[in-house]
Amino acid sequence: MSVTAPTPTAVNRAAQVLREGGVVVMPTETVYGLACDALNVEAVRRVFEIKGRPSDNPLIVHVASIEQARLLTLRWSPEAETLARAFWPGPLTLVLPKAECVPNATTAGLATVALRMPRHHVCRSLIEAAGRALAAPSANVFMGISPTSADHIDPEILVEVDIILDGGPCEVGLESTVVDVSGGNPRVLRPGAVTRADIQAALGRPLGDMPPGDVRRSPGMYPRHYAPRATLRLVEKAPAGEPGLVFGEPQNENQVRMPRDPAAYGSGLYSALRRLDRAGHEVLFAELPPQSGDWEAVNDRLRKASGTA
Ligand code: TXA
Ligand code: MG
Repeated sequence: MSVTAPTPTAVNRAAQVLREGGVVVMPTETVYGLACDALNVEAVRRVFEIKGRPSDNPLIVHVASIEQARLLTLRWSPEAETLARAFWPGPLTLVLPKAECVPNATTAGLATVALRMPRHHVCRSLIEAAGRALAAPSANVFMGISPTSADHIDPEILVEVDIILDGGPCEVGLESTVVDVSGGNPRVLRPGAVTRADIQAALGRPLGDMPPGDVRRSPGMYPRHYAPRATLRLVEKAPAGEPGLVFGEPQNENQVRMPRDPAAYGSGLYSALRRLDRAGHEVLFAELPPQSGDWEAVNDRLRKASGTA
């Protein structure tokens, strides 16, 4: 295991590891990913194993171009074309009918594949150097908080991978928006930095609804997810001096002041939770952000972290 600066030499070495069926940690603009060759069943199985992830939760496949994405689908829909052109490279994942070449291990047996072209230049150079699409879940152990910087990678993961490319802190800080464009009206399966309003504006029509309780379409949407060890309570106002995330002036070092802007809040959320978690508090309080659409991803992760999603 070695954490390295993403020099061209290091990127080429990581690409070689990937071509040989190995696993590496790569930076993306959302969160760090635990990457492998998306079409190599053995490598994909190893990723599930390292993460401790149930095999019924599919992986996102990362590509460096729209053309590469298309080749992994059975049918590339007009909505996929519109959204890819509008938001790729970036924090948007598109779910489409999978091509034969995508193994069931990658998609957890689903007939669809989740595809994303990341914006982080190190990640894209790595996909290009490897010459193949990379399957990558967030580089945390199952149910933990996604790492948004190289020093947040869990020790359990560090010992299992050959190379960790340190691409600095993740700009977005929350996992990508996942949209089902496999047929029918497109639907958001997981909110992210690309908002519902952004997507509707690009499509020029309203998105479909997720039927309540329809977890089959995005098997990763467990109620408790992205969770700190401590119990997180969502409150209007944090009790005086209690540890957690606040909007006003912090009263001590156990309170982290969060920005009133959703993008800035999202970018700092996981590192704030990690810092407070490391301090060993039993209970953390998070002051509720506004409930408007531009805060949807932040509110979703706060609810998941508190087990109230
Ligand atoms: O920003 C991100 O998306 C990060 C970085 C590394 O790209 N990746 C990430 O991967 O968050 P992961 O595995 O932690 O979350 C993938 C999500 C899960 O909720 C999974 O169920 C959903 O995408 N997903 C993957 N394939 C799917 C499919 N075929 N249909 C529906 N949902 C799918
Ligand atoms: Mg994850």
